[in-house]
Amino acid sequence: MPRFLPYADMDKVLSLSKRRGFVFQSSEIYGGLGSTWDYGPLGVELKRNVKEAWWRSVILERDDMVGLDAAILMHPQVWVASGHVENFSDPLVECKDCNRRYRSEDLEGDRCPECNGEFTDPRQFNLMFKTFMGPVEETANQVHLRPETAQGIFVNFANVLNSTRKKLPFGIGQIGKAFRNEITPGNFTFRTREFEQMEVEFFVKPGTDEEWLNTWVQTRFDWYLSYGIRPENLRLRRHAPDELAHYAKDCYDIEYRFPWGWAELEGIANRTDFDLRRHSEASGQDLTYFDESVEDGEKRYFPYVIEPSGGVDRATLAFWLDSYDEEPDPGQKQGDAVRVVLHLHTKLAPVTVALLPLSRNARLAPAAREVYALLRKNFNTQYDDAQSIGRRYRRQDEIGTPYCVTVDFDSLEDQQVTIRDRDTMEQSRIPIADLVDALRDKIDNGGVGNGQPSAAPPADS
Ligand code: GAP
Repeated sequence: MPRFLPYADMDKVLSLSKRRGFVFQSSEIYGGLGSTWDYGPLGVELKRNVKEAWWRSVILERDDMVGLDAAILMHPQVWVASGHVENFSDPLVECKDCNRRYRSEDLEGDRCPECNGEFTDPRQFNLMFKTFMGPVEETANQVHLRPETAQGIFVNFANVLNSTRKKLPFGIGQIGKAFRNEITPGNFTFRTREFEQMEVEFFVKPGTDEEWLNTWVQTRFDWYLSYGIRPENLRLRRHAPDELAHYAKDCYDIEYRFPWGWAELEGIANRTDFDLRRHSEASGQDLTYFDESVEDGEKRYFPYVIEPSGGVDRATLAFWLDSYDEEPDPGQKQGDAVRVVLHLHTKLAPVTVALLPLSRNARLAPAAREVYALLRKNFNTQYDDAQSIGRRYRRQDEIGTPYCVTVDFDSLEDQQVTIRDRDTMEQSRIPIADLVDALRDKIDNGGVGNGQPSAAPPADS
């Protein structure tokens, strides 16, 4: 059975989101601020895990990558040289009656969908936010909030090259906030005006760029699959020539089947030498690369750039939606009871282990607290002793906790605890002394239910 989430079910996800603390509307007590969102206690952990998984796979596990954390505010000339001042705009129309604004590309008819009013002629609307630097609000002090993290990498190309002595091909990656004054934000955290990007600029010798584009497309596509996105909900789409950004020679989008349709998660573009060349010309600094390996021909050249550029918020949303499931609840007497479960990858789940004493009995608490202290040093762990064990399992299922560890009265005698697996609901008994290693093994190998079957597992209800 496909586990694709129908659009109507977004309501359930939104309600879960608010109830359990994944995402809240920003400034909600003041009525909210359009299309801006705050990540709650669980959402922030999920998002941090997504970023950590990206950083590990793209930076730490590769010899040809290094990281960077550049400032959001940059010299105004950056955005002139990059072409954003001139080109980073959407065609906008405004309804003459109700003054609603739309991207003309999003419209099907030529009348306002809200009030059937007539539109103004389209005009180009630059998406960059402006702000002032310093105490005097003069144009000279006007700066932009970066609309992409990429430019922080290009302007640091020579710094990184000189400080790391990297040789081509190599790349620089960073994660950070970006801002776009989107005309039509929407679909929850999918399109917002403030968001996070995780971007790589991978510098290669011209002529090898097409091959590297293919390599990165495959690498990034596989990453989403390896963290649990189901293959039927992921696809690649190549840009048509008239869709390409002003800097791109070729581009593929990795798209996810969101409840509202297929939409972009990440773009992998061939940016050629556009940015380094433009910044070199505008700044007067030499941003070429000296290639000792060239025997015949030009040793100095501008590298080409392959750019896998993903959205942290979109990836987080996709992993979350894709993991959502409603299953028949075996712990309930009524036949139609459902168990809501997030089948999140063990490394993405906001809480990795929940420590559940079988009851609030005073004899159990000290032992349970002791095991909790051991676990929280190693994993993101939650302690929950409120209500029945069955309810607590369901609460953890609903937020995607892969493992629940139960301390019961036998634990006081045999120094063993029960690990319960979120997906299979199987339970196994394990000595406390082996608990951390056993959990680590399960988490690292994505394995579930690989302990010894419990002789008398506590009931899942
Ligand atoms: N440096 C290239 C670049 O910025 P992009 O396709 O405009 O390319 C890259 O953006 C990624 O950033 C997108 O694939 C998307 O995941 C994310 N993104 C872009 N605009 C966004 C928005 N308004 N809200 C949330 N994420 C956004």
